[in-house]
Amino acid sequence: MPQPLRRVRTAVLISGRGSNMAALLEAAADPAYPAEIALVLSNREDAAGLERARAAGVPTAVVESRVFRRDRDAFERAMEAELHGHGIELVALAGFMRVLTEGFVTRWQDRLVNIHPSLLPAFPGLDTHARALAAGVKLHGCTVHLVRPGVDDGPILAQAAVPVLDGDTESELAARVLAQEHRLYPAALAWLASGRVRLEGAATRIAADQAAGALANPLPGHAALRTSGAGL
Ligand code: GAR
Repeated sequence: MPQPLRRVRTAVLISGRGSNMAALLEAAADPAYPAEIALVLSNREDAAGLERARAAGVPTAVVESRVFRRDRDAFERAMEAELHGHGIELVALAGFMRVLTEGFVTRWQDRLVNIHPSLLPAFPGLDTHARALAAGVKLHGCTVHLVRPGVDDGPILAQAAVPVLDGDTESELAARVLAQEHRLYPAALAWLASGRVRLEGAATRIAADQAAGALANPLPGHAALRTSGAGL
């Protein structure tokens, strides 16, 4: 008889809208998905994502970061009380806009994952889409990575790239990236929760059914790249 799947109890940490959280909730609605979203935790009572989580019947908690002001250790201890209280094994940051201390990151090492709206290591930090446009990159995207103490640092689990089109505004580019975030995060979390991720130095190796192939923009067949053309 096949054993029922033991799903990894996962918390999603949010600070705002929660569209990535919603994508994870939707994936985890499938009983065959290896992670169960057992808690949505926000550092802001007014995070719109909390309402979406409640509507989906998922337990929520709020640990207001403002209350703790500069005492990050106390803030994190309060968060960890919630995580332990809900039997959490894995933590997924989804638009959680507080930098975590080295202590917290170390305690959750390899059980703490983040999504960031750029192709890391390019553009860590804030305003990634505006910075990508200003830098003139042709490919932009998002990254899911294991969290290490540096800001937006840690072994990369998966990335998705999108083209940067001539005349893109920041919001057009952000929307194109966000659509990929919603596809990428559920896949990467599933790999982690099902124990398919192996660390090899700073890199990760993922066992089986990874998307094969490469992405490039402009496409190699694009007229602008043909060597028989006039060139630049
Ligand atoms: C997402 O684009 C996420 O990648 C980004 O915040 C947004 C949250 O949106 N995270 C970071 O910038 C973290 N460095 P959401 O609340 O709709 O998921």
